[in-house]
Amino acid sequence: MSQASSPQEILTRALAELASAKDLALAQAWRNRYLGRQGEAQKILDGLKSLPAAERPAAGKAANDFRKALEQAWAERGESGAGESRATSGEIDPTLPGKPYPSGAVHVVTQTLDRIIDIFHRLGFALADGPEIETEHHNFDALNTQSDHPARDEADTFYLDLPPGPHGRWLLRTQTSPVQIRVLEKRKPPIKIIAPGRCYRRDEVDATHGIFFHQVEGLCVGEGIGLPHLKGVLEFFFRELLGQGTKVRLRPHYFPFTEPSFEVDCSIPGKTFRGKEWLEIAGCGRVHPKVLRGVGVDPEKFTGYAFGLGVERIAMVRHGIPDLRLFYENDVRFLKQFAAYGAV
Ligand code: DAH
Repeated sequence: MSQASSPQEILTRALAELASAKDLALAQAWRNRYLGRQGEAQKILDGLKSLPAAERPAAGKAANDFRKALEQAWAERGESGAGESRATSGEIDPTLPGKPYPSGAVHVVTQTLDRIIDIFHRLGFALADGPEIETEHHNFDALNTQSDHPARDEADTFYLDLPPGPHGRWLLRTQTSPVQIRVLEKRKPPIKIIAPGRCYRRDEVDATHGIFFHQVEGLCVGEGIGLPHLKGVLEFFFRELLGQGTKVRLRPHYFPFTEPSFEVDCSIPGKTFRGKEWLEIAGCGRVHPKVLRGVGVDPEKFTGYAFGLGVERIAMVRHGIPDLRLFYENDVRFLKQFAAYGAV
């Protein structure tokens, strides 16, 4: 740009150049040349300093007008400086129908989990969480599991190839029960929580077993809490979940961390499970005094109950799904049937 050109001359040339800048790169180069930090507009403003004082006001106004005119030309060109759009140039036909874009939906296991959480929420249970990578201490010892219990076996549990820490070896939790310990370590009773989450076991995969699955753990500890509360909570829960006619029965069983322990069976009017009326659906019991003592809670003062539910199991019962493997094969034809919140 020669020094001799007046702002008016430069402006005329700039506008002609912008009009002929056919593509984005040219338009942007134009913007740098005229409106950039070292562009023509800035040079003119910088030049004001060297003018005699008397000439400055008029020259200053001319410089500002010049800059504004350039900015306006750029604005008129459109925000991106792209000029003519691909639609108006005919490159794209905007009258063509759009491409269908499939929307997703909540997975049937997550839907079941949401429903479970919602019911317990209404009963006053808060949500708790714990890690999927656990210690041997939290997953077994603190839950009063004997050192020769078969679940500890390397054939049943995934151990991590890491040096043991102060709480023993590292493993993928086999149950959500260690969250009971995590919560009791952190807080004093009264406690009333559920802990939903993923668990891992080294099982042979078949229609009812997978190497990972979801459980919901429940724990309620306080003064005077006992089995009648447990039974009431489970009855309310299963009737809400499976229908008001559902019957619940507790059958004596063994779990290391509860005493007494029970398996929970449900009977649903008009339904049988492999020809049988009662379906095993959960485990539960009164929290073992050793578990409480181990986390510094006095079992003379505080008592409580715990329970554990299998989420896939419940989803199978609710929807009549025969095979656990269907949940994780991700076949859209299967998942679509449960797409309550929109098409898959
Ligand atoms: N953790 C048990 C399992 O995976 C389930 C269970 C049973 C949890 C009884 C409990 C309980 O809290 O009280 O088989």
